[in-house]
Amino acid sequence: MSVWAILVAAGRGERLGSDQPKAFAKLGELPLLAEPLRRLDDSEWVDAVVVVAPPGWEEPAILLAEELGAGKVRACVSGGETRAASVRAGLAEVPEDAAVVLVHDAARPLLSDEVIERVLTPLAEGWDGVVPGLPVSDTVKRVGSDGDVVETIARDGLWTVQTPQAFPADVIRRAVAGFGDATDCAGLVEASGGRVKVVAGDPLLLKVTTADDLARVASLL
Ligand code: CTP
Ligand code: MG
Repeated sequence: MSVWAILVAAGRGERLGSDQPKAFAKLGELPLLAEPLRRLDDSEWVDAVVVVAPPGWEEPAILLAEELGAGKVRACVSGGETRAASVRAGLAEVPEDAAVVLVHDAARPLLSDEVIERVLTPLAEGWDGVVPGLPVSDTVKRVGSDGDVVETIARDGLWTVQTPQAFPADVIRRAVAGFGDATDCAGLVEASGGRVKVVAGDPLLLKVTTADDLARVASLL
């Protein structure tokens, strides 16, 4: 069973507000992209990696992969306007005979092999997708534009989900073939009628969105 990882790193990082795209903001000495790339490349569960870089940043991404000695990188392509478009660009590089596709946000650098194993294992039971998640512990409210509370949402059964997300290759190909967009791939699979399972995520898999998040990840490394 071959597992292809698509590392989506093509976002602009507007909320981070650095001069470069988020994937090339510095985390220690190296660009942020280095950490998740090295971890995917090192994983015994991953056979090959496709990096989806911000338009114009393909060359620096390839050079970084070479510098890291990331020998599983098979392609580095330019991303699209939306995350779904970037996943679509990455999938175009995944060969027909790949069995499983693992999609991971470069913005979540602290990836562990245990989480990769947890999302891959249930695929054998026939799920159309498996995602890591954490039960919501705070009270959740919908808030209007004036800061006015519109409603309080019952927390029962609410989870926040992370990446890496695992899918049978044919399922994710069909789900992203349309023009739909979603903030994660599982959303696309659900929209096309797929059954998605949530497994235990990892608090360390936090997403770097703001400069504070980047500082937090740096301190955790
Ligand atoms: N992503 C992508 N292509 C896009 C948009 C997002 O590959 N067109 C990737 C990002 O690089 C990131 C992941 O999807 O690894 C999650 O997106 P997000 O955290 O929103 O990152 P950005 O879109 O870069 O940040 P922002 O929304 O603040 O601009
Ligand atoms: Mg974004």
